[in-house]
Amino acid sequence: MSCHLTTRESASKTGNTDAFEAARTNLGAASSTDPDLLLPQPSADPRPPRPAWVEVDLGAIMRNYARIKEEAPSSLTLLAVVKDDAYGHGAVPVARLAIAAGVRFLAVATLEEGIRLREAGLRVPILLLGEREPAEFPWAVRHDLTCVLGEPSLVRILAKVAAEAGKRVPIHVKINTGMNRYGVRWDAALAMVEQVLSEPALALEGVLSHFAQSDEADKTFARLQLQRFQQVLCELEARGIRPAWRHLCNTGGYLDLPEAHFDLVRLGLLPLGVYPSRVCRRLAGLEPAMAVKARIVAIQHLRPGDTVGYGMHYRAESPRRIAVLPLGYGDGFPRVRNAGYVLIRGRRAPLVGGVAMDAFAVDITDIPEVSLGDEAVIMGCQGTDRITARDLADLRQSVVYEALVSWQPRLPRVYRISPTA
Ligand SMILES: Cc1ncc(COP(=O)(O)O)c(C=O)c1O
Repeated sequence: MSCHLTTRESASKTGNTDAFEAARTNLGAASSTDPDLLLPQPSADPRPPRPAWVEVDLGAIMRNYARIKEEAPSSLTLLAVVKDDAYGHGAVPVARLAIAAGVRFLAVATLEEGIRLREAGLRVPILLLGEREPAEFPWAVRHDLTCVLGEPSLVRILAKVAAEAGKRVPIHVKINTGMNRYGVRWDAALAMVEQVLSEPALALEGVLSHFAQSDEADKTFARLQLQRFQQVLCELEARGIRPAWRHLCNTGGYLDLPEAHFDLVRLGLLPLGVYPSRVCRRLAGLEPAMAVKARIVAIQHLRPGDTVGYGMHYRAESPRRIAVLPLGYGDGFPRVRNAGYVLIRGRRAPLVGGVAMDAFAVDITDIPEVSLGDEAVIMGCQGTDRITARDLADLRQSVVYEALVSWQPRLPRVYRISPTA
């Protein structure tokens, strides 16, 4: 995803150095961190303007990390999951910020995501979550990306690739404790770990598992997974094997299952200021970092009987004034009809008609002061009202993760560092 500084970005960049300093002091981050390095750098070939964009507040993410670190036990190490472009927020700026906040590991899902972070100059360990194919190993080894392996037959293959490259590479063994997606089944994990230890070109750095359901009120299955994970750790310990990094928790597990923290927690969502479910524990003061905004590019005056958009799914029963926003399902807005709303001038403007690939319409009849060029908030805060990722997840009948990652790269990312309140 390209990240270009626009005029708006430059303004926020120059205006918030003090805010950054304050945030950095709060974080206790290394003094070598410079705001210029955290904000995406201007490109020689900037993108043309577009009246619809995603705004990412790096100040909010900094403060969220400060809050997380404030309450986490000092012995707990943080890993930042920045896959899928840090859930649409921008992997490189979010990873830089996480490292400035004291995070020691990063994780991504694909080789390309890992290589991008390396090319951006990030040197911390990067885990490749999921399972790999043998063809991916030379790339992982070349770029010092740590493979997570859960398939015993891959151990020998990775060891051979590492030996050929003259390297001893760290790996984390993934244990399937009930998710049944990736990993060696918990009752066969010991044999796989011993196989890893028998390979001189591999260094067992960690063992991990992943919760199938950590953010719901019912923790029965999560506790069963924890018990299975502990069983493996006991078996390893009985053989004198104690991997440096034992990890099980994502955001839901981190918030609600402190007994499952072990050495390291893998946080993707929480530092972005979003909760995975309605019922998991809240951490006071977290701020959502992402907003989606657009400017009104057309206003139509409808007469009774007029319809709006493809399929004519809205028909005016009285004179209506509607505003057209230049983004649609091609940008990641759900393809709904006559459902949802945006904020304009601090008021709710309901969506009318269907969402097209590049546009949708909202009813502004009850907000007569609205005019062309006014800013609409599609996700985020305006006045005293807010549209959350959860609201958009509900609109698309999905989870907040999808509501965040759905915003497409063609929506420019605008970065700012908001001052600490
Ligand atoms: C293996 C693994 N660990 C951790 C995470 C981070 O989860 P969350 O965003 O809930 O913190 C993910 C994300 O899907 C994951 O796949």
